[in-house]
Amino acid sequence: MNENDPSLPSAELTGFVHEWPASRVVFGPGLISVAAREASRYGDRIAVIHDPTAQSAADRLTADAAGGVCARIGEVVQHVPVHAVDKAVTTIRDARAGVLVCIGGGSATGLAKGVARKLELPLVAIPTTYAGSEMTSIWGMTQDGKKTTGRATAVRPRTVVYDPELTLDLPAEISVTSGINAIAHCVEALYAHDASPLTRLTAAEGIRSMARALPTILERPREVSARSFALRGAWLSGWSLEVATTGLHHKLCHVLGGLLDLPHSPLHTVLLPYTVAHLAPAAASDTQAVLESLGITGPVSDAGGLIWDLHRLLAAPTALAGIGMREADVDVAVAAASAVLADLPLPPRPVTASDLRDLIREAFDGNRPASR
Ligand SMILES: NC(=O)c1ccc[n+]([C@@H]2O[C@H](COP(=O)([O-])OP(=O)(O)OC[C@H]3O[C@@H](n4cnc5c(N)ncnc54)[C@H](O)[C@@H]3O)[C@@H](O)[C@H]2O)c1
Repeated sequence: MNENDPSLPSAELTGFVHEWPASRVVFGPGLISVAAREASRYGDRIAVIHDPTAQSAADRLTADAAGGVCARIGEVVQHVPVHAVDKAVTTIRDARAGVLVCIGGGSATGLAKGVARKLELPLVAIPTTYAGSEMTSIWGMTQDGKKTTGRATAVRPRTVVYDPELTLDLPAEISVTSGINAIAHCVEALYAHDASPLTRLTAAEGIRSMARALPTILERPREVSARSFALRGAWLSGWSLEVATTGLHHKLCHVLGGLLDLPHSPLHTVLLPYTVAHLAPAAASDTQAVLESLGITGPVSDAGGLIWDLHRLLAAPTALAGIGMREADVDVAVAAASAVLADLPLPPRPVTASDLRDLIREAFDGNRPASR
């Protein structure tokens, strides 16, 4: 924690413990061609869970596996409902699968993690968004509007195949919010009290890769080199999420997303300028690293506003009111967030109930965060 000297990076003051998560990463355009071979490293009866938009990638894998695919599930919904996991577990257990492959965004990966956790199956992930879940041991499920999350090494994919060609049809607006969601993971890792010097490098490089890619993707969504940079950023962001403890941003998204059923990556996108504006005064060096990695020049005291400006340039949503939150939800959200987060020792700067009221109100209206 760097409360005492905000000019120093968080990780430099406390010492650190670093564990290198063991997953194999295969990265390159067209590498869906190796997915069947990667899966067969872990078992010979393959079950595939895929996003509906990844139908042709799943067909390709099925053809390459030459009879080795024993079950396919092509229905994926957001937030990983427990009943969907239970249904998929029954199908995949009955098919006597020995290995599980998921192709899709965080929702497909989440469903597959739920199954992998129950059946103790090795998982191979082929992401098609920038969510980063494929690099983590974090699982999450919802039931009756409540999201439960946890960590289990067993759900972390053994191999991740990153094929930028599978992301060429990701619509520009989803690419932008998904990309900023990845940036937010990296920002949190830069602020994290348990970040290591290595995390700082990967998080900064993750932000740089994504920030470089997004403007091009907006203009030319099918450009493979821009998609490669973005997916590279997503990999580094997922890695950062895995190795550093999450802070205010992620925890607030978790509370609001679960409570109000707001869409995951737009919510991360809208809140980022406001959470950075709150944290910047306590972590000048970390915030400077965020701005530099984003390619932004300007004072740390205006970091939230500068990030908000960038989001406007990328045509990203900037107000909670614009992504499904209602005026009447503001007080409910403030009460729920305060109950969970107020006055916790959250590095680099705790939030009070009053901070949360201001932050959520500002984010609801979507005004440019004031300089601190
Ligand atoms: N466990 C973790 O470590 C972790 C990390 C990040 C996110 N998550 C979870 O992931 C979920 C959000 O993931 P997401 O943002 O990827 O959303 P998502 O998987 O729901 O995908 C968003 C939309 O994009 C579409 N899509 C996906 N790939 C596409 C492609 N290549 N082309 C066209 N359309 C495509 C999907 O059909 C969907 O409509 C949330 O539930 C979140 O909690 C978990």
